[in-house]
Amino acid sequence: MVNVRKCAMIGCGLVGASAAFSLVESGLFSELVLLDANRDKAEGEAMDLSHGMPFARPMEIYAGSYDDIQDCGLIIITAGANQKPDETRLDLVQKNVGILKNIIPEIKKRQCEGILLIVSNPVDILTYAALKLSGFPPNRVIGSGTVLDTARLKYLLGQHLNVDSRSVHAFIIGEHGDSELAVWSSANVSGVALSQFCEMCGHYRHMETMQKLYEGVRDSAYEIIRKKGATYYGIAMAVRRIAECILRDEHSILPVSSLIEGHYGISGVCMGVPTIVGSTGVERVLDIPLSEEEQQKLTASAQAIQEVLKTIEF
Ligand code: NAD
Ligand code: LAC
Repeated sequence: MVNVRKCAMIGCGLVGASAAFSLVESGLFSELVLLDANRDKAEGEAMDLSHGMPFARPMEIYAGSYDDIQDCGLIIITAGANQKPDETRLDLVQKNVGILKNIIPEIKKRQCEGILLIVSNPVDILTYAALKLSGFPPNRVIGSGTVLDTARLKYLLGQHLNVDSRSVHAFIIGEHGDSELAVWSSANVSGVALSQFCEMCGHYRHMETMQKLYEGVRDSAYEIIRKKGATYYGIAMAVRRIAECILRDEHSILPVSSLIEGHYGISGVCMGVPTIVGSTGVERVLDIPLSEEEQQKLTASAQAIQEVLKTIEF
């Protein structure tokens, strides 16, 4: 039996702890199990978070073992190394696939029926690895994909145009990494084409500005890591949003990473594209219209992921 109100966080470092905090604040779950290779870390975070209970909605938070996660509706994996300055996400692949090879069999052994949400990097590779190692159906293995990158794009566009970023509709798709792309062809602000909205705001050097904004999104993590060592608050809020869609069966469209089979002429990789997310996890991967250039970039991004997948033994 799955308890949809019960969530597990495997990995309680900067991302895991921040995401746990975000989930506690959300009031979505009534039970949160924390696991980390460093047991003290999980226990310390559980104590610290629990002390905020009088200010939040009731929830049981504790450091647990794999036996405790058997009935979790959502299992979030943030365990693994993060990037050091000038390292790419792909540089983490061997180390973090190794860590996943320790974690996923423990989950599989317990015949968990919940949804796996992979956050550790390189997230698209690890989502694929989790799918293979778990044997779970593809709808139950989700990566955070380009949800954070898309939020970064919406934020930067909102700043540029002086509008609420929630009124901006645009996607970053592909690899959560250096080969990702922005889908400008359908980007809009509450139904008004982006280029038209830019002109309405008195911005005319559209292509040049959009390229700069895209590069700002693509390189954000490098800049944050150079300045403060790691990124964790943005992703923590993205994790909360994904969890909310699943728990509340929202059927919202988010660019999560999941198995792509035949969409956009691509098969056999996990990567972030607009996807309907609900209580069963991935409900439907969407084929949104792309310009020829965007299609070429998406194909190249998929190939970049596929090249790395070839170096992994499952
Ligand atoms: P961190 O070093 O602060 O924490 C990692 C934690 O994982 C540590 O507490 C460590 O003890 C734990 N761990 C290691 N092996 C484990 C195992 N086998 N079982 C359980 N726990 C284990 O790192 P962080 O900053 O929290 O980053 C975590 C991961 O999240 C990194 O791979 C990072 O690149 C990734 N990340 C992804 C996104 C995204 O958008 N998907 C955003 C930010 C960070
Ligand atoms: C991010 C991490 C590092 O903040 O993937 O994009």
